[in-house]
Amino acid sequence: MSRVLMGNEAGGLRRNARLQNGGSGKEHRTYRVRSKISASELAIVYAGRCEKQEIKCVIKEFYPKSLVRRGKDGSSVRRLSGMPDDKYEALRDAFINEGELLKACEHPGIVRCIDQFEQNDTVYIVMEFIEGVTLAEMIGGRPDKIEPGFLYKTMLPLIETLEHLHKQGIIHRDLKPGNIMIDRQGNAKLLDFGSAVRFDGSGGHPILTTAGYSPLELYSEQSRQGPVSDIYSLAAVLFYCCRGTAPTDVRKRLFDDRLEPIHAGLKRRWPFLSRAIRRGLIVAPDKRCTSLKWFKAAITMEYVTSPSARRKSRSG
Ligand SMILES: Nc1ncnc2c1ncn2[C@@H]1O[C@H](COP(=O)(O)OP(=O)(O)O)[C@@H](O)[C@H]1O
Ligand SMILES: [Mg+2]
Repeated sequence: MSRVLMGNEAGGLRRNARLQNGGSGKEHRTYRVRSKISASELAIVYAGRCEKQEIKCVIKEFYPKSLVRRGKDGSSVRRLSGMPDDKYEALRDAFINEGELLKACEHPGIVRCIDQFEQNDTVYIVMEFIEGVTLAEMIGGRPDKIEPGFLYKTMLPLIETLEHLHKQGIIHRDLKPGNIMIDRQGNAKLLDFGSAVRFDGSGGHPILTTAGYSPLELYSEQSRQGPVSDIYSLAAVLFYCCRGTAPTDVRKRLFDDRLEPIHAGLKRRWPFLSRAIRRGLIVAPDKRCTSLKWFKAAITMEYVTSPSARRKSRSG
């Protein structure tokens, strides 16, 4: 697949590098790095192999690239001198939190965490390998590919996964097309809990925000965050499904709140969903739609009123 990056440019581990979970209190497991899938500000993601079980896995390595370098041995991760300790510690805590939250909220719609351990002076999270593509790769800016049936069979269960998360008292805070995988059976799986927190009203400043998908309250240290913050990002993801682009960034809309019409220039109109999306994309969190049920209802309406669903019900 084209998104697999080979070699160890940008400081990645070498092919066949061996990782071991230390085993304290748990079963010893060995993993082998195969290839690099992606590298972000905070982490490198590799395709790997779990040796004993002979299964493919994904290994995510804590590697905040502006603060660390790979040692000469090709595996250890050295902190750069002169860089702020508190920033490094906060990022590392968030990475450890990512693995712990993944383990705590097991669900068929959430990527499964297999292991988490320290090695090479850094931290690793091992996850199930999802055979598929991200929603961003799947749509790739071509909104006319999306059918009501896809929203009903794939995106509606994703909203139920989000409901499950919120019931557990967790908000994801980084919903976007690159953090949603669609497997070969068409199931959506939520990834990347690096910004997720247990919400108790205090929120806490997220580590990264994404233009177009992050709500206004995630840009402020003082603001109140909650499930409604994920609702904004979910509405932005559904906007992306319908239009193939992210909505205008919320910081621009503060001064000139003109959200482009969802169906402009497109074949499909999405009458029910566009209303729900607009209510989810309201800038002020206290005026925004607060329930995920509106999105589920809108998707169901789009599906049952679509010609293909009507054809199916006539023939079945
Ligand atoms: N379990 C997985 N199975 C398959 N691909 C994955 C998996 N986890 C991550 N990826 C791929 O790696 C990319 C980055 O992963 P992510 O957890 O979002 O890291 P980051 O925190 O760097 O954004 C994803 O967009 C996806 O393409
Ligand atoms: Mg990500």
